[in-house]
Amino acid sequence: MLFEKFDSKVFLAPMAGITDCPMRTILNDCGKGNLIAEMAAVNAIQRKNPKSYQIANVKNEPYPVVVQLVGNSPELFADAAKLVADLGAKSIDINMGCPVKKIVNNNSGSALMKDLFLASEIIKSTVNATQLKVSVKFRKGWDNEHINAVEFARMCEDNGASYITIHGRTKSQGYSGEADWNIIGEVKSSVKIPVIGNGDITSPIIAQKRIKETGVDGIMIGRAVLGNPWLLNSVHHYLECGKILQEPTIGEVKEMLLKHIQLLVKYYGEKAGIAISRKHVGWYVKSFYEAKKFREQYTKLNTLTETINLINDYFLRIEI
Ligand SMILES: Cc1cc2nc3c(=O)[nH]c(=O)nc-3n(C[C@H](O)[C@H](O)[C@H](O)COP(=O)(O)O)c2cc1C
Repeated sequence: MLFEKFDSKVFLAPMAGITDCPMRTILNDCGKGNLIAEMAAVNAIQRKNPKSYQIANVKNEPYPVVVQLVGNSPELFADAAKLVADLGAKSIDINMGCPVKKIVNNNSGSALMKDLFLASEIIKSTVNATQLKVSVKFRKGWDNEHINAVEFARMCEDNGASYITIHGRTKSQGYSGEADWNIIGEVKSSVKIPVIGNGDITSPIIAQKRIKETGVDGIMIGRAVLGNPWLLNSVHHYLECGKILQEPTIGEVKEMLLKHIQLLVKYYGEKAGIAISRKHVGWYVKSFYEAKKFREQYTKLNTLTETINLINDYFLRIEI
């Protein structure tokens, strides 16, 4: 397998506001796949910001979780690394790929792809702070005129990263266009540490094709998991056994959706949990009959009982 302790080639992509503890619980219940938390800012952790602390705290989760940190200060990374080690992280991932304005303007995320010296100081400082393995997630480059993924990958390796994840888009692309798997292949053949490829994996067959083409050690999946928490396990199963698992039935989707909402309410409280559930509900039912009308009705609800009733009614209609 990828390296010591990871028992799957398949990784969940960290997604802020989405891959939280309830989502990870759901994914873990679906089967295999390595789980990564949403990014937590090192300066917010230092300020003891409750939301960031909650993101970084994975102590009560009964499965391994990689915790991702974002920021621009080597000292704060070291402090945050020590804290997340105490809070149960399995290993630490450093975000050097986020394209969001607020992050980039703070010289963090993908801005670090333009400052290899600072990026190397951050990696060294994080590696030296604890016994945990440290990985780095980055992009193809800043824009088409500044494609430096190979050089960046070597820098990560030279400064002690245990593995790297590369998303095959530039910062300027954001999430548009297609991920460039040629550059991912170039990165793979340029370093000795394991490389995880990321971008536009939507099925077991595409995952296997990308691994064959590039030789990457693992693949990371983000948006395709939304509303389809079975995907990580079905990709894992296909890579291991060559068999495609059956799609979930409508009844299974309903049960998963109900479970997800209940977990959100338990974790965030009823008001916030229901508010957060709205986007997930939209993803679960997106290809179903009269999904738009159902979503509109769902958006107006504020209590768990109301949402359960509406979901039961809706699925009763579409299952017939
Ligand atoms: C809503 C959203 C939030 C994201 N948040 C993070 C994040 O916190 N940390 C990170 O490294 N990448 C983040 N990403 C990028 C994903 O991890 C991944 O690299 C990207 O979605 C490409 O993979 P995909 O094509 O499989 O979705 C985010 C992406 C989305 C769509």
